[in-house]
Amino acid sequence: MDRLRFCLNDRWVELPDTSPTTTLLRYLRDQAHLTGTKEGCAEGDCGACTVAVVESTPDGRATYRAINACLLLLPMVQGKRVYTVEALKRDGRYHLVQQTLAEKLGSQCGYCTPGVAMALFEACYRPDMDAPWKADAQMCGNLCRCTGYRPIREATLAVAGARPDDYFGRALKAAATPVAMDLHYRAGEQHYFNPGSERALWEVFEAHPRARVVVGGTDLSLEVTKRHEEPRVLVSLEAIASFRGVRALRGDGGWRIGATTALTDLEDWAEKHLPPLERMLRYFGARAIKSRATVGGNLCNASPIGDLPPVLLSLGATAVLASRDGERRLPLEDFFLGYRKTALREREVLAAVEVPSPPEGAYLAAYKVSKRRELDISAVAAGFLVTTGADGRVQTARLAYGGMAATPARARKTEAALVGQPWTAASVRAAAAHLGADFTPLSDHRGSARYRGLVARNFLIGFFEETRTERAPRLSHGHPSTLEVR
Ligand SMILES: Cc1cc2nc3c(=O)[nH]c(=O)nc-3n(C[C@H](O)[C@H](O)[C@H](O)COP(=O)(O)OP(=O)(O)OC[C@H]3O[C@@H](n4cnc5c(N)ncnc54)[C@H](O)[C@@H]3O)c2cc1C
Ligand code: FES
Ligand code: FES
Repeated sequence: MDRLRFCLNDRWVELPDTSPTTTLLRYLRDQAHLTGTKEGCAEGDCGACTVAVVESTPDGRATYRAINACLLLLPMVQGKRVYTVEALKRDGRYHLVQQTLAEKLGSQCGYCTPGVAMALFEACYRPDMDAPWKADAQMCGNLCRCTGYRPIREATLAVAGARPDDYFGRALKAAATPVAMDLHYRAGEQHYFNPGSERALWEVFEAHPRARVVVGGTDLSLEVTKRHEEPRVLVSLEAIASFRGVRALRGDGGWRIGATTALTDLEDWAEKHLPPLERMLRYFGARAIKSRATVGGNLCNASPIGDLPPVLLSLGATAVLASRDGERRLPLEDFFLGYRKTALREREVLAAVEVPSPPEGAYLAAYKVSKRRELDISAVAAGFLVTTGADGRVQTARLAYGGMAATPARARKTEAALVGQPWTAASVRAAAAHLGADFTPLSDHRGSARYRGLVARNFLIGFFEETRTERAPRLSHGHPSTLEVR
């Protein structure tokens, strides 16, 4: 049986007999007595618990990632290097990010500042801080700004991408690329598996048919921290290389996006290849969430307000399901069977989604409305793809919505009303009148049914307006909403 083992502030720790559902935050505060890392919300929403973990980029480089310790179960850092705020001061000198925060008058209360410093720490060593929106995105998971956000932003801009040749810069260069470790850890009745191959995964399912799958844990860990559940058998897919990363498909083109691809990596990839996906990911949680959250987790929790389903439905994605018997493929719309219910069978996992390349000249975009712009769940989200023929009439319309029904779904009647019509404001408005026949949304604290219906309609009209100037519009920096009509 394996032991839990990871490197904390440069010292290896081994933990026998610790529940595998213990979060890193609980361990840091209660057992390691590293109380600089704070607990604000215990649900990934405030950033007070941010630590840095050395992770691997898709091209195999070691990199620091700021991550919420409140959502990390201890086995998720098996074999990895973790740094907390206590590690930053070296040889009596504060780290560049700490000095800069102080000089710019960016320190907040003692609860929020350690998390802010750790988010800045990641920014400091990032080689890709080449656009102003990236500074905002870096900090948007550190939510409290009650002593002023401007000085924090100034500190971020001052250190972002500085990559000093200091202890941590050198440590990163010397670090071996971290790999997820093959693991079977047991404490009492609880097991945590991290099998290193598909074959080993099927063996785990053979022995534990009801094992719960976990990957990033940004949904599942809340069952532990908020509902105080202690799943008996968890099986992670993180160490299975065939489920991770994006690769081009042969033949007609398109891509296979591995289910365990982290959204931070997907966002980088989508910036070059799929603008609507990048656009949606900009306002998906916060960077610290996206560095753990995965595509598969977002689809498999089958939330009606998950942000990836509408955009993937509009792109015509296919779900690839894997089990001991091999792979089977389903159009993504057939993957969602009902409220939080998917077509996954027992002992089956989502291996990937396949996304065809959008047709040449297609109009496409994605939209999200939430109560606040950053770090919030959608009230309504949408992904649209429209193609037109030489005569200017609509040939294909795939209009997908989240937040309008029990599952993410396409607006079939509205689509039918649009196909064959000229791509004009008048026909878009006429088609949008059919949305009421497609959906009967609920009223809840995120929005009334009437509000949702209006937002859904305005998304479609805004999509037409926005694609007048650009077929696959991107978000500029400092835009006021996800809908930008220039
Ligand atoms: C603070 C915060 C902000 C968030 N913001 C957003 C947001 O803006 N938009 C949004 O849509 N979501 C948001 N989420 C929800 C969550 O981050 C996403 O749903 C994420 O993609 C889940 O991925 P994960 O790998 O962490 O899933 P996990 O928590 O590991 O798993 C989620 C569920 O899916 C199952 N599962 C995971 N992967 C597979 C697989 N490959 N095969 C079979 N089953 C699988 C698990 O068994 C579990 O039931 C947020 C969450 C938090 C905590
Ligand atoms: S305690 Fe709030 S994000 Fe972790
Ligand atoms: S609660 Fe810490 S700065 Fe607002």
